[in-house]
Amino acid sequence: MKNTRRLRVLCGELRPCARFADVGCDHGYCTQYMLEQNLCRTAVISDISAGSLHKAETLLAPYIAEGRVRSVCCAGLSDIPRDTDEVLIAGMGGEEIVSILEEGFLPPVLVLQPMKNAPKLRRFLLERGYAIERDFTFTDTKHYDLLRAVRGGQGRAYGARELAFGYDNIHSPSAEFLSLVEEEIQKCRARLAAASRQVPAVQARLNELAEVRDEIAGRL
Ligand SMILES: C[S@@+](CC[C@H](N)C(=O)[O-])C[C@H]1O[C@@H](n2cnc3c(N)ncnc32)[C@H](O)[C@@H]1O
Repeated sequence: MKNTRRLRVLCGELRPCARFADVGCDHGYCTQYMLEQNLCRTAVISDISAGSLHKAETLLAPYIAEGRVRSVCCAGLSDIPRDTDEVLIAGMGGEEIVSILEEGFLPPVLVLQPMKNAPKLRRFLLERGYAIERDFTFTDTKHYDLLRAVRGGQGRAYGARELAFGYDNIHSPSAEFLSLVEEEIQKCRARLAAASRQVPAVQARLNELAEVRDEIAGRL
């Protein structure tokens, strides 16, 4: 597996399952990890781009040859078998991930790494009956959100703040999340300083970020 922190964190959230699918797999490193660690019996790799999928097919050629991996070029979940246990969708926008799930089906376990719009994704998952078991921000040159959601089961209570920032960031904050909040505060301050008039939305965002920072800073 290519050794980046993002991929290590992503793979660290994958759990043993019978049938795994990597939607938008591109290089296929996460599926390689699942197979090398013997975390799944079979896997489906998929990508909307034949060129991207070809990279994963090359990486995973021995597994494809032995019949443990099937490769499908398709949009979203359209050709993913419905009996797949665990689905990874990483490196796409949160709205795109929501569209993929709306147009496809709702797998029992999802590991998701949206590039933006994580709050929309959280709201969607909760509305569709998922318990979000892991929900945190991590850093690898930039900040990423990671969500692991299980359909049904006892979920944690999400209020406005957990929806906006991620449950684990609020309840068991990390230095990485604090640094994201500090960066966002600086961006808001810069926008307010550059504006020739009041910008209430930016001021409200700044106030919220400052509250979150003050809440979590003492707990680190
Ligand atoms: C930035 S890469 C992420 C690759 C890998 N999942 C990761 O996290 O390292 C996004 C990949 O998703 C694919 N993709 C984008 N939209 C898609 C869709 N609707 N269905 C399937 N694949 C899609 C792209 O072709 C690209 O290979």
